[in-house]
Amino acid sequence: MAMENFKQFLVLLVSALSVGFVCIVFVLRWVFHFKEGLAWDGGLAEFNWHPLLIVIGFIFLQGIAIIVYRLPWTWRCSKLMMKFIHAGLNILALILAVVSLVAVFDFHNAANIPNMYSLHSWVGLAAVILYALQIVLGLVVYLVPITPGFVRAALMPVHVYGGLFIFSSVIATALMGITEKLIFGLKDPKYKDSPPEAVFVNVLGLLLSVFGGLILWIATRPHWKRPAESQLRLAHNDDLAAAASEAGANGGAAVTMTTGGDQESNGEPRRRNGKGEESAAAGRINI
Ligand code: HEM
Ligand code: HEM
Repeated sequence: MAMENFKQFLVLLVSALSVGFVCIVFVLRWVFHFKEGLAWDGGLAEFNWHPLLIVIGFIFLQGIAIIVYRLPWTWRCSKLMMKFIHAGLNILALILAVVSLVAVFDFHNAANIPNMYSLHSWVGLAAVILYALQIVLGLVVYLVPITPGFVRAALMPVHVYGGLFIFSSVIATALMGITEKLIFGLKDPKYKDSPPEAVFVNVLGLLLSVFGGLILWIATRPHWKRPAESQLRLAHNDDLAAAASEAGANGGAAVTMTTGGDQESNGEPRRRNGKGEESAAAGRINI
């Protein structure tokens, strides 16, 4: 099924992936070139796991998880498969975020630094807790097959808004964390004297904001949303009809493959429960 403004989508997707990739390179260079590298010893090198795992997991992977349904070449995959990919990427991002928190708490405890005193830590911990809640709710509502269709449809706007809100909070938290770390870490010359590390990491902050902006833009264009399963099925049946008539015109070797109405485009059997899951009220099949 063709996507509207596909070229524009491609440009934005490649930009988001490139900026995200550059963010990861920047945080690696910060940790290994300007800072103490990585270790798990209660010292500063243990702290460094915190920004590294946040940028790779909680920012980059989460961003990809959010837009994965919109990649048009996945529209041929079943909705169930896409749910596993979306949920799996989000769960991986949560695991990396939790490990990054363990690193910073462990570092604080070893160095006798108080915990949870900053706005950064308050907003950050709230984001991680809400993210875990979003995953649990997402699994219960959209993966457990007995959840009725009207519940799925009613909660979808909350799920989408919640996801985008958490993602934006994570970017804001990262900017606060970066600023704090530069103020604490740069002594001679100080942050206000703009040493190379400060300029380099300020640029990382800008790039993280650009990455966030691109993901939010891609995720909020209505015409790039994954089409309803009914539409995808119709488009697929049209393709098959075209192929069959072409084969007929070519003198025989008829296409015997049929999907009937009961196959997903990848050949998986489609669940049929009459109402509920396949909610007509939602105007979509298999949310
Ligand atoms: C501390 C969460 C990103 C720098 C903390 C703490 C939390 C947290 C909960 C408190 C730990 C404690 O009290 O023992 C997050 C989350 C992030 C994030 C959810 C996701 C965006 C970053 C980044 C940096 C950073 C990218 C950049 C270096 C710091 C610093 C501390 C800290 C310097 C120690 C000072 C403080 O507690 O505010 N973070 N952080 N954080 N984080 Fe982050
Ligand atoms: C859609 C975020 C976890 C199921 C979405 C969308 C966002 C989002 C922003 C809108 C995507 C779009 O419009 O293209 C998140 C976040 C999660 C999370 C941040 C983790 C914290 C889950 C889980 C499931 C799930 C665990 C369970 C399978 C869905 C479904 C859609 C969706 C079914 C609808 C996709 C569509 O119809 O195009 N999610 N989600 N989500 N999510 Fe999640």
